[in-house]
Amino acid sequence: MGRVRPWAIAAAAALAASCAAAQDATVAPPQSGAGVAHPEIWPAYDYPVPQRPEDERLIAGLLSRMTIEEKIGQLVQADLCCVTPADVKTYNLGSVLNGGNSGPFGDDLAPAEKWLQLADEFHAASTDRSDGGVGIPVIWGTDAVHGHSNIIGATLFPHNIGLGAMRDPELIERIGQATAREIRVTGQEWTFAPTVTVPQDFRWGRAYEGYSSNPQLVASYAGAMVRGLQGPPQTDDLLDGPYVIASTKHYLADGGTDRGVDQGDAKIGEEALRDIHGAPYGPAIENGVATVMASFSSWQGVKMTGNRSLLTGVLKERMDFGGFVVSDWNAHGQVDGCTNASCPQALLAGIDMYMAPDTWKGVYEDLLARARAGTIPMARIDDAVTRILRVKARLGMFEAPKPSERLLAGRYELLGAPEHRAIAREAVRKSLVLLRNDGVLPLRPGGRLLVAGDGADDLARQSGGWTLTWQGTGIDNSHFPGATSLWAGLRQAVEAGGGSAVLSPDGSFEQRPDAAVVVFGETPYAEFQGDRATLQLDPALTAPWETMRRLKAQGIPVVAVMITGRPLYVNPALNAADAFVVAWLPGSEGGGLADVLVGDAQGRPRFDFSGKLPADWPRTPDLAEGVLYPFGHGLSYASPRTPWTALPEIAGGAAADARTFFAAGAPTASWSLVVGNIDRVDETRITTSAAQALQGRVQVTATDYQVQEGARRFVVAGGGAATALSTHEPIDIARETNGDVLLLFTVRMDRAPASASVALRCEADGCGGAVPVNLPQGGEFVRYGIPLKCFAGKGVDMTRVSAPFVLQTEGPADFAIAEVRLGTDAQVVLPCR
Ligand code: BGC
Ligand code: BGC
Repeated sequence: MGRVRPWAIAAAAALAASCAAAQDATVAPPQSGAGVAHPEIWPAYDYPVPQRPEDERLIAGLLSRMTIEEKIGQLVQADLCCVTPADVKTYNLGSVLNGGNSGPFGDDLAPAEKWLQLADEFHAASTDRSDGGVGIPVIWGTDAVHGHSNIIGATLFPHNIGLGAMRDPELIERIGQATAREIRVTGQEWTFAPTVTVPQDFRWGRAYEGYSSNPQLVASYAGAMVRGLQGPPQTDDLLDGPYVIASTKHYLADGGTDRGVDQGDAKIGEEALRDIHGAPYGPAIENGVATVMASFSSWQGVKMTGNRSLLTGVLKERMDFGGFVVSDWNAHGQVDGCTNASCPQALLAGIDMYMAPDTWKGVYEDLLARARAGTIPMARIDDAVTRILRVKARLGMFEAPKPSERLLAGRYELLGAPEHRAIAREAVRKSLVLLRNDGVLPLRPGGRLLVAGDGADDLARQSGGWTLTWQGTGIDNSHFPGATSLWAGLRQAVEAGGGSAVLSPDGSFEQRPDAAVVVFGETPYAEFQGDRATLQLDPALTAPWETMRRLKAQGIPVVAVMITGRPLYVNPALNAADAFVVAWLPGSEGGGLADVLVGDAQGRPRFDFSGKLPADWPRTPDLAEGVLYPFGHGLSYASPRTPWTALPEIAGGAAADARTFFAAGAPTASWSLVVGNIDRVDETRITTSAAQALQGRVQVTATDYQVQEGARRFVVAGGGAATALSTHEPIDIARETNGDVLLLFTVRMDRAPASASVALRCEADGCGGAVPVNLPQGGEFVRYGIPLKCFAGKGVDMTRVSAPFVLQTEGPADFAIAEVRLGTDAQVVLPCR
């Protein structure tokens, strides 16, 4: 377009300089070979955001006055967990964030007022110039990934996978607008959204954060969502309007990892990288997206956070991205040669801002020392600072008043406002995918409806992960004021039509219903916890299928409604029901389901089904074995009715996921239950349900938990004993340790030992660490959790854990263990002692 782009020139100069210095520092990324992209084969774009001369003058002026400390501070983002306003002032931090488990003043579930109050405190601290500094306003980033989803009472839109079923970019833009307005109420300026991943393997637990497996569909949404959040790319001073800045993530190929492993490696060629995973970034850039978040994952073995060819060569130069690149949660620590506290490689590769939640001080000090020593080039630092300041200028941060005095701030009635909920409800309606209808739908409102299934009245479940808490666990209906569960929506619609509805999770009834809706499906998960070995619904969640069969056997027509983040093999449910609807993760406006399911008084549909599958639906738990319904499939009321042909049903349960070590009283595949002395002499592997160890000092039997013999009981006559789960193939749980994942163990203490501790062992001799625990006596099973970070802090090498659970007891004891796994849903979190 022939425009002069000063930032591009600065970036090129910085890059040239950084190459030279990088070689000195021996932290240079490779120039060719695996994981090195060729920018010239990628599409070129034009970043449309205008450079206002007055902003450029301001930024140049600031840059000339900023100290090296102030510059480095701008490059660092800290999490609420671990930073105070005083820190922001002292270190001139560029940004703060609230991760999935953080909220203001240590309360993840803090009321909206507290978020705004803290935003003011951070703002005041950052702009305090009493120390003679330039006082650059801090920006606050949040994961508003399906509405302002960390805030109680906010509108929760369907997760992206459901939006992908709609095929409606215009509605996506309106969702972006409503989300931006709600964010502005509580004072944040930045959302880490939209996720424009193009998931290729739905075993990945974050697949639902993506719109579709189809690059064109994702690309058709990326620009619309960016525009909805930020306004048109020419918009100046975003904070004067109802806008926030967006972040397209996770660049690149987060959805392309081998076997769908979270933070894994995309073993694909550059063309696939470009054409599948790169596709949405073009429209995002053409709509002026202000930030891009680099992915945790790697391409051809090279971590994205350290990949200069992709971050600088492709994204900033070839694609002309003029905003700034933020890294993901301590992802820099995974770059070759880096640690959480030191990673100049990331800056040199093209990261402009480090998301260093709890490690910001180390990152700051390390960068500062290197900048002073001249081993990282000033030009690269200046370029990164300039990019960040340009985005702040675009927001209008330099003139904006404190957060609580900005447009929409403190207007709490906008959180969950009726006009926003209406948009979400429309999205729910449009996202439903009908896979079967033998004629029971639409439901006649005048009749008697039975609503069954454990998912029918569960707002946390229908909202999924990244809802109020990181994994979406630990919350219940009371945390969703103003929301409508699927059950509540159905009842309203049926009653409005003169009929009646009853909720009966197990499907039992007193008065025979005319029809039944049975809601079942996945429970919430996010990073790591959602990864699965196969595309099969956890057998523990299939009890409602029995309910369907029972109702049908009594001649009651059954509508199955599935809550899910992904297509799964559910043939038994498809066979058992008379109609089958995929509701995805609909969020707070469950009324959208009833809009389509419940007809008018004449029995005609009020709204038709229009949703189409955003990805292939598998025939078996292994998609490689064939597609049952292809991408784009979805019936409507107008579809011709064809007789149902029973689908093949596969016997056997799903493979336990890799992070469950002990379930239903037995070790899972590749784990052994071993009892021995604490010093590990005289170990016995327990393989039978009545067994003994330590010369009869420990008696092992079975006991009941949930099911018959669902736990193992250990009676220790006295002395020291170690009950362990171990393997010969050590596992790497460093990634989980970086997150807030816990070691969970469900135990019943019939007789508490004199003292107890829980230890982890790793591969090498002498590598391990124990946490003293207090497990009080009591007749009930309790699911305890110990943060993995606690074991790491005790020196355990989390990359090669050979025994993820060792219960060490002293003295006579009697206890039962039902389950041991990694997770976040502890009933009691034990202190790290
Ligand atoms: C996730 C990002 C998220 C960030 C902040 C990361 O672990 O991968 O998607 O934006 O945390 O919560
Ligand atoms: C945070 C998330 C983050 C994750 C990274 C969690 O502790 O709450 O926001 O995405 O760690 O692993």
